[in-house]
Amino acid sequence: MHRDFWLERWKKKEIGFHQENYNEYLIQYGEEFFKSCNFIFVPLCGKTKDILWFYHNKKKVAGIELSEIACKEFFIENQISYNLIYYNDFIVYVSIDKKIIIINGDFFQLNKELFEYFEIHIDGIYDRASLIALPSDLRKKYVEKIFELFDDKIKYFLITMEYEPLENSDKEIGPPFSVPEKEIKILFQDKFKLNKVKEKPIERNNVKNCKEVLYFLEK
Ligand SMILES: C[S@@+](CC[C@H](N)C(=O)[O-])C[C@H]1O[C@@H](n2cnc3c(N)ncnc32)[C@H](O)[C@@H]1O
Repeated sequence: MHRDFWLERWKKKEIGFHQENYNEYLIQYGEEFFKSCNFIFVPLCGKTKDILWFYHNKKKVAGIELSEIACKEFFIENQISYNLIYYNDFIVYVSIDKKIIIINGDFFQLNKELFEYFEIHIDGIYDRASLIALPSDLRKKYVEKIFELFDDKIKYFLITMEYEPLENSDKEIGPPFSVPEKEIKILFQDKFKLNKVKEKPIERNNVKNCKEVLYFLEK
């Protein structure tokens, strides 16, 4: 269900989450936050332009994305030539200069061997609209997978969203899902020091008190 939902959205071009420009928080804080990092992981990357921001800031980048359409469109729209490498259940798109890698497949199937095989040594994570794309049961698994894959010292730039439903209801609305600070603490605080950097109110239909929140997580 979860996979089909996203594949269908890409097929029907229902990708309102996609930003045509670099993310404003990445522009404002990225250079300083990632200055000690060389290789950035972008989970659930879609075809985000933010990958290019890292590339232009002299970082290597590896993303993972379920939709083949998104992976192809990233390289075609940005006129970057690539090779395709088949690795187990994944199709891996590698730019000719080997600085951008997009893994086409399921994030939850990732393992350390793949990272070793492609010599991907991650020291920074960039998460915009990724954790909040998942319902609560998958959010827990997502964070467990991050911990499993990256046990070294790592920096994590996390952009989330919080809002309240218009009427009282137990049903989770989303995606994007509302992920309040107390859940972020529960998910991450065993492994990371958490720093809430910014909150910005935003307009969103059918919910109230909506805001974007930026966290810096460091080990
Ligand atoms: C809300 S979008 C955000 C994309 C990107 N982070 C951005 O800022 O544009 C979530 C993306 O996650 C992808 N996705 C969802 N579940 C996934 C999974 N299990 N493995 C890999 N990608 C997944 C979807 O196809 C979609 O492109």
